[in-house]
Amino acid sequence: MAEQILSVTNLNIAYQGTPAVMDVNFTLERGKVLCIVGESGSGKTTIIRSLMGLLPVGGEVTEGNIIFNGRNVTNLSNTEWRSLRGKDMAMIFQDSGSALDPIQQIGTQFRELFQSHLHMSDKECDAKAIQLLQSVSLSHAAHILHNYPHELSGGQRQRVGIAMAMALDPLLLIGDEPTSALDVTTQSQVIMTMLEKAKELNSAILMVTHNLGVAAYMADYILVMQDGRVVDEGAPQDILEHPKHPYTKQLKDAVPTLEGGRYIE
Ligand SMILES: Nc1ncnc2c1ncn2[C@@H]1O[C@H](COP(=O)(O)OP(=O)(O)OP(=O)(O)O)[C@@H](O)[C@H]1O
Ligand SMILES: [Mg+2]
Repeated sequence: MAEQILSVTNLNIAYQGTPAVMDVNFTLERGKVLCIVGESGSGKTTIIRSLMGLLPVGGEVTEGNIIFNGRNVTNLSNTEWRSLRGKDMAMIFQDSGSALDPIQQIGTQFRELFQSHLHMSDKECDAKAIQLLQSVSLSHAAHILHNYPHELSGGQRQRVGIAMAMALDPLLLIGDEPTSALDVTTQSQVIMTMLEKAKELNSAILMVTHNLGVAAYMADYILVMQDGRVVDEGAPQDILEHPKHPYTKQLKDAVPTLEGGRYIE
């Protein structure tokens, strides 16, 4: 049987007592990609923040369990969460680029990341950082190591953020619309890199996107959310060919077409 990385059962999350996510269930195995799609405010970010112990103040898991890599992580302390994040699970936000330290060169930030978890020389860190930057289609990678975040474009910064999330080979890579601000070509290259990396490491990806086309392209399994609940789920082909819920049909019709064919954003 394939090894389960994540198992979420009866997950309920509320903000100041107001329910935002209700009765969500899913599992994710090694080597698999799960996508969550759904309209704005449907609870996608809330779910993935709960998986990383990053719910904002006022948000709490009110019911259910989150099992990560065989361990119940539903009620971990902040210190326990910190030791899991980065190495075992890493997250890419829509604006990960803006989370970079503004007063440190990119290369220094990579060195800190590597050296906080692994025994690596500065030279080894730089070599690995260059490789990662190239893998997210950044040219002049060696030069970028000497740049400060403000010297890069928004799209370049975001790709640096994505490269950093993949740097420590996490078992679970979680993304919240990580590529939606990138142009179509770069977006598909970056998605391809994430998929290749996950395949190489036999790790898992959990990705939030508002675009059913992107989800169908990358996912093994899709959850469709509306108003805090999963309203439809299944393999991409099932979802596209037999949408069970009217909302899924709407999402399907909203996937942009190019010369008659569906394409990624
Ligand atoms: N910090 C917060 N405090 C109170 N309520 C919140 C907070 N964050 C989110 N919510 C509420 O929880 C619900 C789900 O929000 P969430 O951010 O998870 O949606 P989403 O699916 O990620 O939307 P989007 O596609 O716009 O990013 C919404 O009703 C939202 O108003
Ligand atoms: Mg969101």
